[in-house]
Amino acid sequence: MTKINLLKEKGMPLEKQVKSWHEIVKRPYNRELVDSYSRTRQILLNGIETESWFFKHSWVRMLDDLELKKVLVSIRRLEDMQQTTINWLAPHNQSVLDTTLGYEQVAVDLTAWLAQNEDDEYIKETFDFGLLEDYDHLYRYSQFAYLIEETHPDVILHNNTDVTIGRPTQFHHNCNALRIRKPYDKDKTSPKTKVNILTLISAEQQTHNFYAEHGFMYGNTDLKRLYAEICDVEEEHVTMYETLLPHNETLFEKWLIHEFTEACNYYNCYVDETDEKLKLIWEEMLSMEIEHLKIAAKSYEKYENKDPEAIIGDNVVMPCHFESQKEYVKSVLNKETNKRVDKNGTFNTVDKLDVDWNSYNIQKITGKDGVPSEQAINLSINSINRDIALADCELINNQAGLLEKSLQKDGVAPNTISVDKYKEIQKIKFEY
Ligand SMILES: [Fe+2]
Ligand SMILES: [Fe+2]
Ligand SMILES: [Fe+2]
Ligand SMILES: [Fe+2]
Repeated sequence: MTKINLLKEKGMPLEKQVKSWHEIVKRPYNRELVDSYSRTRQILLNGIETESWFFKHSWVRMLDDLELKKVLVSIRRLEDMQQTTINWLAPHNQSVLDTTLGYEQVAVDLTAWLAQNEDDEYIKETFDFGLLEDYDHLYRYSQFAYLIEETHPDVILHNNTDVTIGRPTQFHHNCNALRIRKPYDKDKTSPKTKVNILTLISAEQQTHNFYAEHGFMYGNTDLKRLYAEICDVEEEHVTMYETLLPHNETLFEKWLIHEFTEACNYYNCYVDETDEKLKLIWEEMLSMEIEHLKIAAKSYEKYENKDPEAIIGDNVVMPCHFESQKEYVKSVLNKETNKRVDKNGTFNTVDKLDVDWNSYNIQKITGKDGVPSEQAINLSINSINRDIALADCELINNQAGLLEKSLQKDGVAPNTISVDKYKEIQKIKFEY
């Protein structure tokens, strides 16, 4: 790949970035015709904008420098306009559950891409751990998409992402302090790793916010409870990825990394996009972000008297390439469903957990009346005699085995589907 130094590219001047309402609200894509990975790009970029907007809000609230405040509030209003344009590319007839399947497809295929492109072993391990949890969320939500809205999950996923049991959701609930990871060393970590982490934080935070704000929109208590349960896991995911960030990165460094992350994501989406209309939007947004990046770089030079390339390097990175990750996910599934975060945040297997493991307590309290994520499968069995599972026969028939490996000795909800039940339902053919 030829080198592209975004700081040397031409950006769109700020005064040209303010748009009319007609330009801000564009025609949405078509629910049926859009490529599943165009939808994942739209979902991710929305999260990227929200993070950039909120970062500037947090900073300005703590800032006592009028000149810098003026710059930050001007740019963040543009981030806000960008966010509206992107989020509202989703059509009105894409249901909350349709969008939810899209969110979990983002989480699975994005995390798998990032894990395979991550040079730092500790961070890669963190990504792989989160991957299997979002993979299981997709499976739980797919039951309701089918049962409540009669949507075959592949209407949204286009057969790019498998739907089977992962690490069961009821085991994602931890003492949140265990999710705290060791921060990266800001002087030794590559721009690529920094962008990868901020990209994933943005995606997970957006997923959390979407569930928090939409779970109540269904008049089905089991589904509402499932949104509440998974929303809480996304909170843990934000904690897990966010704590990889070091405390000693200055706010100017953080600003640079935010604008660089935005620009890199738009660049990556622009290169990959197959929809001509969306491609033009990503291209325009990229030119806006190049200008934000240049302003952040100038401010960094002015206030800290340092070279911005020492932080972001001199080449674009590709943080969000979407392609089917079935084989990679399967390999992680076979190795890691039995992993848990143990004391001090180290990873361990279920058979080695102490009897007084910190997370048992929260699992016992939240799951004492049964967990919604198991109820989802119970409801499918009641309705069609089996679960909704989409993958090759080998993986589907391995669900009982995967469950057996991941079961804990304690903290198991009373409504958990048994290994024997999985063996029994797997014999029944799924017909749409
Ligand atoms: Fe932006
Ligand atoms: Fe998830
Ligand atoms: Fe997640
Ligand atoms: Fe920006």
